Amino acid sequence: MPIGAITRGTTNPNRLRRVDRWAQTWPGLRTADDPLVVDLGYGAKAVTPVEFIERIRKVRPDARLIGFEIDPERVASARAELATWAKAGRLVTGVTFELGGFETPLPAGKKAVMIRAFNVLRQYDEADVPEAWRGMVAALAEDGVLIEGTCDEIGRVSTWVAVTPSGPQSLSLSLKLDALDEPSIAAERLPKVLIHRNVEGENIHRFMVDLDRAWKTHAPLSSFGSIQRWVATVETMKANGWPVHAGRTRWRLGEITLDWAAIAPRDFD
Ligand SMILES: C[S@@+](CC[C@H](N)C(=O)[O-])C[C@H]1O[C@@H](n2cnc3c(N)ncnc32)[C@H](O)[C@@H]1O
Repeated sequence: MPIGAITRGTTNPNRLRRVDRWAQTWPGLRTADDPLVVDLGYGAKAVTPVEFIERIRKVRPDARLIGFEIDPERVASARAELATWAKAGRLVTGVTFELGGFETPLPAGKKAVMIRAFNVLRQYDEADVPEAWRGMVAALAEDGVLIEGTCDEIGRVSTWVAVTPSGPQSLSLSLKLDALDEPSIAAERLPKVLIHRNVEGENIHRFMVDLDRAWKTHAPLSSFGSIQRWVATVETMKANGWPVHAGRTRWRLGEITLDWAAIAPRDFD
């Protein structure tokens, strides 16, 4: 029996563009001997796994994807979708859909360089996270990554944790900056491991408060555009001691990524 439970299959074209853009930068993707990627819990349609592999192939043209769903009907319907597209002249190769849960049942001897599990754990309890992560991480290659996160319906607000075989590494937030009121809007869409921790005494809360404050401080830069305001915000966060990754190229996309250790829940083991 696949590990987990069938949950709502809601999805939308292009909603995962922000995380996919980040996924393209994963170093292991470039060096993997076997660039096998997994979309776990792809939902009621084949669209987001196909978008995922098309984006990944910009970096690794030879990448293949296995989509796992715990709902057998969604496996059947995703296969049927691909068959319908093929008849209409759109042939998607190197993509298969299989029944599977958090145990991530790859073919014998295979490991994945990347597993994307988006909007899956959102519908579970916080206590379910460690076991779910363990199952997925066990299917990773040594230089592989599990990207586990959440976004809103159309992908304007997205957050994810990167977990490798050595444990969680980073948290990323990616926001559509136009008309952004406060970056802490992301608090509603945090990965399950953090969403209940946005409370006094937890570092993720301190981070959100500091981020809103920096965004507010740089309000006068709005006249030059929201990107400039965001870049200044991230620079301030870095200057305030937050271990922020990458540089302006990523920040200009509305992203901020920082060390997991800086925002891990207090009792995280
Ligand atoms: C809300 S949809 C997310 C679809 C897509 N990933 C997205 O973000 O648009 C969640 C999907 O995860 C599936 N799911 C839930 N638990 C799972 C598990 N343990 N293993 C595989 N799929 C699972 C559900 O059946 C559902 O179709």
